[in-house]
Amino acid sequence: MPLYTSVDNGKCLADGRGKMSYNIITLDSTGDHQIDLVSASYWNNEDLEKNKAFNVIDLGFDKIEASLKYKHLLDQIECLLARYKISVENSNILSVASGTCWVESQWLKNQQFRALHCIDISRHRIHKLAPFTMEHYGVVGDVDFLHGSVFDLDAKHKSYEIIFLSQAFHHIEEPIRLLRFLKQLLSENGVILIVGEHYYTRFDYHKRAFKHFVKYFINRKGYRSLKQFYPSWQDLFPPDLDKGDIHWSASEYDFIFKKAGFSYYEHDVHESRIFQSFILPMKDNHA
Ligand SMILES: C[S@@+](CC[C@H](N)C(=O)[O-])C[C@H]1O[C@@H](n2cnc3c(N)ncnc32)[C@H](O)[C@@H]1O
Repeated sequence: MPLYTSVDNGKCLADGRGKMSYNIITLDSTGDHQIDLVSASYWNNEDLEKNKAFNVIDLGFDKIEASLKYKHLLDQIECLLARYKISVENSNILSVASGTCWVESQWLKNQQFRALHCIDISRHRIHKLAPFTMEHYGVVGDVDFLHGSVFDLDAKHKSYEIIFLSQAFHHIEEPIRLLRFLKQLLSENGVILIVGEHYYTRFDYHKRAFKHFVKYFINRKGYRSLKQFYPSWQDLFPPDLDKGDIHWSASEYDFIFKKAGFSYYEHDVHESRIFQSFILPMKDNHA
């Protein structure tokens, strides 16, 4: 028996134990932002997503549970929560670009949070796969599955202790605007947790730079028409037009955070060297 029903814009379930409600919600677009139609179309293409490990409805949970990459990601989240003493107990949590909520399910399955709001532009991820995944892992609590843009969230009367972005921040094309907006949603002692950002080692950098110079010298496919001799970070780690990944350099992250009002932040690189994370605490950034 499913513990929820898919009804747009409605309260869907209060189970017999009175401990949980899963709400499937479609946000109204306020229209004051421009939607990235290319990425929205990519993430809403169910055919493209069929064989991805997240498609637990068709593929089951073995594939995603065996993923080494996700083991590393969960390990980093656990370490950061412990190191910075971030407790979910009684917290209101917002997860931005939460996808199928697999990471949130692992993190929160045995936790007593107050409320969890998860938002994503992919309808099948957030309205089909996410409640299915949360129910499978027995996440107990009030959870809203919001389909839409983060900028459509109602900033009034919202106060989150934790705002979580897992492999998400680098997908948002207006990162400064996003952080300024999220800052308004943070509680006095709230924290923004940005995890699963791409990390590139010095070796990666030099390897890409070497390839760049080779392509530049042979002018492969008219390479020189868009590139300079000395490559920028974005030349070496180019953005993905469809998925919307943007690979920010360390100095770009620094600029984005400071410009958005987070002069103080913590930075952590996971020992696997594939992920980096950032902690943006409200208490040190009130000004
Ligand atoms: C790499 S997935 C990460 C999903 C999940 N947070 C995780 O860690 O597995 C990126 C997610 O960002 C969502 N996304 C991309 N651009 C978005 C945007 N502008 N607003 C909200 N969600 C977005 C996609 O639909 C996709 O689910």
